Amino acid sequence: MTIYKTNDYQDMSRKAANIISAQIIMKPNCVLGLATGSSPIGLYKQLIEWYQKGDLDFSKVTTINLDEYKGLGPDDDQSYRYFMNENLFNHINIDKARTYVPNGLEMNEEKACSDYNQVIAQSGGIDIQLLGLGNNGHIGFNEPDSVFKCETHCVNLTPSTIEANRRFFENEDAVPRQAYTMGIKNIMQAKKILVVVSGEAKAKALKDALYGPVTPSVPASVLQLHPDVTIVADKAALKLIN
Ligand code: F6R
Repeated sequence: MTIYKTNDYQDMSRKAANIISAQIIMKPNCVLGLATGSSPIGLYKQLIEWYQKGDLDFSKVTTINLDEYKGLGPDDDQSYRYFMNENLFNHINIDKARTYVPNGLEMNEEKACSDYNQVIAQSGGIDIQLLGLGNNGHIGFNEPDSVFKCETHCVNLTPSTIEANRRFFENEDAVPRQAYTMGIKNIMQAKKILVVVSGEAKAKALKDALYGPVTPSVPASVLQLHPDVTIVADKAALKLIN
């Protein structure tokens, strides 16, 4: 595992964007596993800037996102599909037909999940999976649990995640209670994993994930078992480490 310590969010974003760019340059038809939330926004902005300068070409890239709220469609401005369009896809030369997000409008959970497992399998494997870290140690929407859930599944969001995500919604009642998420096995099968972490609120979760026991009660702790993980975190997030 490699840990890069950066001064702040901006530094973190630039460093992580460098790693994603290197992947695209080395393998133009790569498969990127992507995340939403506050952590990757700066990284996406940086990728857009480099694309606009002519340094990056997304025309052969495939993307597979981690998760989507159940019940929200692509036109809903709180959906993760909408987020990805707004924060990345609408600004680069990616073929949207090769950008995948779980289908939040599919109410048949079994179908939604098996369709998405098939998308992942048919992609030939994720070259690099980008992750943020939840305050409670979640990755994707794999919430603290008594077991690691393997593949894409429908999850009931915990009160802590609902509280953390309510900043994006009008009020707490508007936050969906369920989501579809890739499972731990889907994530662990990525060839490389890149985690971006910023801010003191994540310090405890980051320490537990990297140095605590490997346990489903801290889902990110499973990353200790992956052979190629890079953490890019700012000083505040690394406050309890070193
Ligand atoms: C997002 C996702 C979540 C977030 C995590 C951190 O697709 O899967 O695991 O990465 O909740 O969120 P932020 O970055 O908003 O702090």
